[in-house]
Amino acid sequence: MILIFAILYTALAFSDFVSSTVLTVTGTGIISAYTKNKSKHEHKNFNTQNKTGTTSIPADFAEIAISVDFVAKNALSAQKQTSTTANKVLKALGFVNASKIITSSVSLSANYDNSNNPSLLTGFTSSIGISFRTTPSKAGDAIDTCISTGADSIQSISFIASDENNTAAGNKATYEAIQNAISEATAVSSQLKLCVAKIKSINLTNLQAPPIPFSFSLATEAVGAKVSSTPIQPGALTVSASVDLVFELADC
Ligand SMILES: *[C@@H]1O[C@H](CO)[C@@H](O)[C@H](O)[C@H]1NC(C)=O
Ligand SMILES: *[C@@H]1O[C@H](CO)[C@@H](O)[C@H](O)[C@H]1NC(C)=O
Ligand SMILES: *[C@@H]1O[C@H](CO)[C@@H](O)[C@H](O)[C@H]1NC(C)=O
Ligand SMILES: *[C@@H]1O[C@H](CO)[C@@H](O)[C@H](O)[C@H]1NC(C)=O
Ligand SMILES: *[C@@H]1O[C@H](CO)[C@@H](O)[C@H](O)[C@H]1NC(C)=O
Repeated sequence: MILIFAILYTALAFSDFVSSTVLTVTGTGIISAYTKNKSKHEHKNFNTQNKTGTTSIPADFAEIAISVDFVAKNALSAQKQTSTTANKVLKALGFVNASKIITSSVSLSANYDNSNNPSLLTGFTSSIGISFRTTPSKAGDAIDTCISTGADSIQSISFIASDENNTAAGNKATYEAIQNAISEATAVSSQLKLCVAKIKSINLTNLQAPPIPFSFSLATEAVGAKVSSTPIQPGALTVSASVDLVFELADC
């Protein structure tokens, strides 16, 4: 019995034109094979390219970079003034619920007067860069705090979403992109009187929301006019996904 089954199965498996085989073992132990002979079976690949999905999410954080700079005749003096002021700024940031407070750069450079030959050493510029994170609604106050404790410039302000929210939005965008691809494949297959048999490959590009930079001129104007009186309003962040799918279309 098992032998017959095996021979029959092998014979069917090697037969080109048999597209599907149904083997049934009946209650009395008789093996019967029903073959659906689809001599004109069709398989077509259908590709959808760059089907996209997008999701908008609000910014969860503002990332701000500022710097403290001093110019002095003497290198040590420039460094000392910079570090004293930077420490005041760092301490003050601790009181405005800023997080991820980092001293991002420390630099000392010599200044020369090039109008003389040989050029003349005129002094030193010492800079300390500080970056931190806060909520968008507290960004204005945090910048005020930095300026009032001695920060000299705002290097950048940008708005970002938390990793969790970014990932969730990416998944939603991906789902939408795949749905778009499937809709197109289904529409095309029905035109051809075929059905989507399977998805042969998926190539997915998930683009996390790029940070939204805050307009620099606005930021510097805001510093002049006292930031807290100028609300810093981030726009929504956009997370997008793009998929390339290859479908196999076959007889229904
Ligand atoms: C299946 O179709 C082919 C080609 O049309 C034909 O030669 C063959 O006899 C058919 N087989 C059966 C089992 O009907
Ligand atoms: C993919 O589609 C998006 C939106 O439909 C478009 O902006 C983008 O340029 C496309 N990219 C490519 C590589 O075709
Ligand atoms: C994620 O987004 C929701 C809705 O905007 C917000 O309430 C939540 O605080 C965000 N999560 C984090 C970790 O920021
Ligand atoms: C800082 O956060 C704590 C707890 O989240 C809150 O009680 C406090 O009021 C906040 N301080 C400021 C200055 O926002
Ligand atoms: C997936 O798509 C990207 C961008 O379009 C392309 O560079 C890459 O070669 C693709 N990978 C595969 C396996 O098709």
